[in-house]
Amino acid sequence: MYAVAGATGNTGSVIAEKLLALGQRVRAIGRDATRLRSLVQKGAEAVVADVTDAASLTKAFTGATAVYALIPPSMAAPDVRAYQERVNDALAAALKNAGVEYAVILSSIGADKPDKTGPVVGLHNLEQKLRGIASLQALYLRAGYFMENLLPQIGVIQNLGVVGGPLRGDLKIAMIATRDIGAAAAEALLKLDFHGQQPRELLGQRDVTYQEVASIIGNAIGKPGLSYMQFGPAQLKPALLQMGMSPSMADLLLEMSEALNSGYMAALEPRSAHNTTPTSIESFLAGEFVPRFTGKAAGA
Ligand SMILES: NC(=O)c1ccc[n+]([C@@H]2O[C@H](COP(=O)([O-])OP(=O)(O)OC[C@H]3O[C@@H](n4cnc5c(N)ncnc54)[C@H](OP(=O)(O)O)[C@@H]3O)[C@@H](O)[C@H]2O)c1
Repeated sequence: MYAVAGATGNTGSVIAEKLLALGQRVRAIGRDATRLRSLVQKGAEAVVADVTDAASLTKAFTGATAVYALIPPSMAAPDVRAYQERVNDALAAALKNAGVEYAVILSSIGADKPDKTGPVVGLHNLEQKLRGIASLQALYLRAGYFMENLLPQIGVIQNLGVVGGPLRGDLKIAMIATRDIGAAAAEALLKLDFHGQQPRELLGQRDVTYQEVASIIGNAIGKPGLSYMQFGPAQLKPALLQMGMSPSMADLLLEMSEALNSGYMAALEPRSAHNTTPTSIESFLAGEFVPRFTGKAAGA
């Protein structure tokens, strides 16, 4: 049986569905039984547990051949780093107390760095904390920048007529679709061919810049020549707060952007077949971005 945390989310849902489709037993973990219902209909056992609660997580992990775990984002937490450390403590205690032997953990590029990478510091600390569990074999999937981060650009384009954000327009970014992370995680859970504690970078199909992304989106939505505009922290922070982020999250995101822009936070490996995944930026935008953009435009 596989225990999958964040089972209603981007990566967890792909993992749970892939394992269920192969006839595997899955314990789907989330905070709300109703949101887990569609996985239960596909054969999963639903377990309600909060990732900050070690006791309920321990129950959820007990008896699992392997676990998938992550730090779910908490955009509105008043102190995001404190929240992340609560999750890290609970995950470590639960993996240890439940006697879990194998875990696939969602991490990020930049998790090699101990500081100055915003929310990724929490993932660095999670990796470090789990390394202290001698009985655990863990694979840390150090994913690139999620293509799903582009979805809020729908509102930016509609309001400002540009693609905009804190990253340099010419910065080459390893952008990955979360479905590819889910597929890689499911494969690792099935094979269990990792030993000790090892990171694995997942870098998407190719590196792309925000300038390229703007051009591809522009062509796909009938706005050829759509441009990218880099916003400074003073311009961006109020917009992030308006989107519902806490000041703590906004500051961490801006710190991470700085780390990416300067090259401090970057993939460590050269691109290879092992760290390259199939979904291109074009197919992500065509399948996920354009229908939402068009739907919103039609509904407006
Ligand atoms: N964004 C990036 O570019 C990037 C890059 C590299 C790594 N990452 C990592 O990827 C993570 C996000 O992964 P994802 O997209 O798969 O996650 P997600 O879809 O945002 O969320 C996963 C699920 O976690 C559940 N959840 C939220 N808070 C919870 C809690 N307190 N206890 C239990 N479950 C909780 C939610 O389900 P319910 O509401 O049903 O409980 C949610 O569906 C980030 O947090 C970061 O660590 C992100």
